[in-house]
Amino acid sequence: MGMTAENLGFDSRAVHAGRGDLTAMGVHVPPIDLSTTYPLPTVDEGGQAYEDMAGGDACGDGQTPVYQRLWSPGVARFEEALAGLEGAEAAVAFGSGMAALTATLLASVSAGRPHVVAVRPLYGGSDHLLASGLLGTRVTWTTAEGVGEAVEEDTGLVVVETPANPTLDLVDLRALCDRAGEVPVLVDNTFATPVLQRPLEHGASMVLHSVTKFLAGHGDVLGGVVACSEEHARRIRPVRAITGAIMHPLSGYLAHRGLQTLPVRVRAQQDTAQVVAHWLAAHADVERVHYPGLDGTDPSGLVGTQMTGPGAVLSIDLGTFERACRVAENVRMIVHAVSLGGVDTLLQHPAAVTHRPVSGEAKPGEGVLRLSVGLETPEDIIADLARALTA
Ligand SMILES: Cc1ncc(COP(=O)(O)O)c(C=O)c1O
Repeated sequence: MGMTAENLGFDSRAVHAGRGDLTAMGVHVPPIDLSTTYPLPTVDEGGQAYEDMAGGDACGDGQTPVYQRLWSPGVARFEEALAGLEGAEAAVAFGSGMAALTATLLASVSAGRPHVVAVRPLYGGSDHLLASGLLGTRVTWTTAEGVGEAVEEDTGLVVVETPANPTLDLVDLRALCDRAGEVPVLVDNTFATPVLQRPLEHGASMVLHSVTKFLAGHGDVLGGVVACSEEHARRIRPVRAITGAIMHPLSGYLAHRGLQTLPVRVRAQQDTAQVVAHWLAAHADVERVHYPGLDGTDPSGLVGTQMTGPGAVLSIDLGTFERACRVAENVRMIVHAVSLGGVDTLLQHPAAVTHRPVSGEAKPGEGVLRLSVGLETPEDIIADLARALTA
């Protein structure tokens, strides 16, 4: 596939990455290839390609992809682009963020390292998957400071999320990776996106995204991706092929297109989130706003060093379950729905919905609502919240 000039700025790469061969093909946007199977030149070539990809290789230039579960050219374009934005050698894309986490955990288990050190809080689904033990993992739950002590002989992965869902807690990745030593650290970068934070630059080994959120950005793609070294990718691709977890080609196309506007969307949504967060912090009915862009919420000074900005997601504590429900159920323009990172503002109750399976002490507060700020006119978002808060 065509190359993207490495000396281009981040925004230019977001627009052009994974598209270097289009002009030579005589097209302006990537063709959508929905093939589930591909003609095999010869039995030998087909068999060799199958063996290479099932073993973890990327599809070679001129090689047949064989079968969509092994390789999909449009998905590979998205992978190339996202890897470049995260500063990774490779990326492996999946049908959902949870499928991406599952494959990464299974790759670790199958390498004889079933122990996972998990830093809470995590997204409710990730917490649920790890707590269930479904994949043969054994988990030690800890804090960012406790990672060093929690590592055991057979630890295969440290899992951390920063900013965390839904508390917006930040973790100092450099310090955490030092504590993890040789153990690979997987950072869920869904909230920050590579626009605001690139974990590999701070010592992480792998970056996970729910593509469903900011990367695709329009609420019409379910996807996940892991950006990492080619060595890690070679261990994860066979799991994806065997378990059948690859991203759909149409999602690959839409996610790749989403990356082109990612920098402008994230910065614009972040600008509005800052305005909304300050307005909420001054509101008499809001007990607390969790947002790293507010004074006193980032004691380690990670915004400005590890992150270039606080992002576009925040949570508010309204004190009681009843008040939180009343606000969630009384917004009109804002959509009362799970998910985040899209162009429209979404509001939801984590403890009751997204983080429902999380065990008692790690569950978000009963009065907490998570707000993902979209691209609407800031005054309209504030007016909608103002009315819902007094409903
Ligand atoms: C931070 C984070 N990680 C992972 C996931 C899981 O991704 P998906 O829903 O695409 O499976 C989510 C979904 O909400 C999330 O918010």
